[in-house]
Amino acid sequence: MKDLDNTYKEKIDSKRLPEHIAIIMDGNGRWAKKKGNERIFGHKNGVKAVRNTVEAAAELGIPYLTLYAFSTENWNRPRTEIDALMSLLVSTLDSETKTLMDNNVRLMTIGDAESLPKRVRLNMQRTIEKTSGNTGTNLVLALSYSARWEILDAVKSIARKVEAGELSSRELSCDMISSQLQTKDIPDPELLIRTSGEFRISNFLLWQIAYAELYFTNTLWPDFAKEDFYEAICNYQNRERRFGKISEQVVSKMRS
Ligand code: IPE
Ligand code: IPE
Ligand code: MG
Repeated sequence: MKDLDNTYKEKIDSKRLPEHIAIIMDGNGRWAKKKGNERIFGHKNGVKAVRNTVEAAAELGIPYLTLYAFSTENWNRPRTEIDALMSLLVSTLDSETKTLMDNNVRLMTIGDAESLPKRVRLNMQRTIEKTSGNTGTNLVLALSYSARWEILDAVKSIARKVEAGELSSRELSCDMISSQLQTKDIPDPELLIRTSGEFRISNFLLWQIAYAELYFTNTLWPDFAKEDFYEAICNYQNRERRFGKISEQVVSKMRS
């Protein structure tokens, strides 16, 4: 385990780290089922993977790490699972605040906070305040989040400005739209990881991942270890990001 850990970590070029890594943490239920347990057992075991990933990001000095923890669509799950997930969130925020402090991590959140139970909102607020002075990795928890909800909200706020005569439609730009999203102060992710072998985005950061590198792994989230995270970063660093240009242009720019 330790050796593998070192192998991928050693290959990482610390000068070309992504500024923002986003993760769709998937496969908790299947992990539990494989072990003959209830789905919530998988969620509980997913907490360790969250801790390891946050620590790994902090140790490497990744400025932003966004974790998709609960989607708008996840409200359609059975009530018992939703309740168990909300309770787990509260207890994890309590137990992991020390990890965040020890690693100089600042907690932030995106999503529809209003829709969360009060105890989750209060705990979240408390941890956000406690960690607000930390200067290392920014951990962004996506909770009750979906990209279409976020974009719709931004469009409504832009429409209100136009209605009020504060903005004309000619002034609209991509930057203007980005500035109305919940992620307005966060750079777009360069790397998006999804675990559990599913090849879909599930309504996550649709606007922001326009040029993200996508990385899919079969590993189920509770098994996701630091070396899996390092492996994803190595894979990302071996890609050529062309942004619509041709390879020669990108290579000559890198040399100049
Ligand atoms: C991801 O694991 C966690 C959440 C969506 C809350 P799942 O609960 O989706 O697990 P699978 O995909 O059913 O295995
Ligand atoms: C996506 O996982 C949401 C989170 C990881 C929080 P899901 O398990 O809900 O996604 P689908 O339903 O398989 O697309
Ligand atoms: Mg799932």
